[in-house]
Amino acid sequence: MATSESMHGMWSSRLMFILAAAGSAVGLGNIWRFPYVAGENGGGAFVLIYLACIFLIGIPIMSSEILLGRIGRQSPINTMRSVAASSGANPGWQLIGWMGALAGFMILSFYSVIAGWVLSYVFQMGAGTFVGADAEAAGAHFGEFTGSVWSVTAWHTVFMIMTIMITARGVGRGLEVAVKYLMPALFVLLALLVVYAAFTSGHFMEGVQFLFSFNFDKLTGNSVLLAMGQAFFTLSLGMGAIMAYGAYMPKDSSVIGTATMIALMDTAVALMSGLVIFPLVFANGLPSAAGPGLMFVTLPIAFGQMAGGQLFGCVFFILVSFAAITSAISLVEPAVAWVVEKLNTSRAAGAWLIGGVAWLVGLGSAFSTNIWSDVHFIGEMTFFDTMDYVSNNIILPLGGIFIAVFAAWILDGRIRDEEMARDGGLYGVWRVVTRFVAPVAVAIVFIMTFL
Ligand code: TRP
Repeated sequence: MATSESMHGMWSSRLMFILAAAGSAVGLGNIWRFPYVAGENGGGAFVLIYLACIFLIGIPIMSSEILLGRIGRQSPINTMRSVAASSGANPGWQLIGWMGALAGFMILSFYSVIAGWVLSYVFQMGAGTFVGADAEAAGAHFGEFTGSVWSVTAWHTVFMIMTIMITARGVGRGLEVAVKYLMPALFVLLALLVVYAAFTSGHFMEGVQFLFSFNFDKLTGNSVLLAMGQAFFTLSLGMGAIMAYGAYMPKDSSVIGTATMIALMDTAVALMSGLVIFPLVFANGLPSAAGPGLMFVTLPIAFGQMAGGQLFGCVFFILVSFAAITSAISLVEPAVAWVVEKLNTSRAAGAWLIGGVAWLVGLGSAFSTNIWSDVHFIGEMTFFDTMDYVSNNIILPLGGIFIAVFAAWILDGRIRDEEMARDGGLYGVWRVVTRFVAPVAVAIVFIMTFL
């Protein structure tokens, strides 16, 4: 059954798959979300649990997604359908694909809104809006920007159109070309910024200490939940994004080794982002626990106070835009691939259809900081918060459990052995962790969410 090529195209090499998957993984989750969540949860202790989640849950589940995608070679929905059939399993397993497509819409819809804020900040930083701004001015500016329904909606639209245009060009000419240039650029810019923070802030060691001193009294049960949710989100797991990319991966490379490399790159970017942000925060005596505004309020204040801050601030937001766009294209890919398979349409038609629907849903999130700021969906949550909460805390962990259980227990052992042949001794380790450790750990943390 396992075909060697996908109808959607293929990555031209293992390296291109790694760049594409790292492009999916490295995004707003690393640069915007990781530092502020770590900041609110005491730094080092949170980082330690987060790292444990990456290794014990993230890498095994990422390997499972790559494995399943590469066997099925189709959109996650049809991959799950065909792999379940060839393993003699219940066709209901394709629910993994359906849940994933739904989560993809939900995540993309609010992701595009925040990415739109980032795009606008590229220009505002470059124009010197924040030069010399104090905390009050920067906060007021952020409030004014997000409070304007037109600005937020316009930038959300620009970001979504960019995502659609890359996706429409297909795997080889669109996705691969984007990651081939944007990912190396991102690594260079980030390295430059770490050096900048190290030399100009004068508080680099404070940043290092904040991220790496494991102070356990700050740890609460809730930090564990947040660390696991962050691990899923940052590695793009639980909804089939990596499965879709795995479908275009050449056969002749290891699964677990490749997943490990991607996870290490993603982790390195998250930690480096922390090493850019926290030294600047401490150098200016700003609070580390500033929440989601850390990147949009705190950081611009820091850049506004530093030599060369206008330029470096602009560079910083360009880097974040690159990271966001290479993630967004992976959020639409599962649904676009399915539309192409099902309706037999062109990629372009599929991309505009899926992107258009996600744009429409995203309006709800665009409105959440202005005209709908008082409209609540679940409890006190705005539309934006609801999308974020339901996708990250419910659909991704559930999807992750099902994917791990399917790959390690249900999938026909002969197919799996053949596919994992290049992984050598790691295969045995993966099997034990993915059968017993990962699904049980996710289930425990998931149930704790509702207690
Ligand atoms: N991992 C990306 C980030 O850290 C976001 C993302 C892209 C994602 N694709 C995903 C999250 C699929 C969950 C599932 O910004």
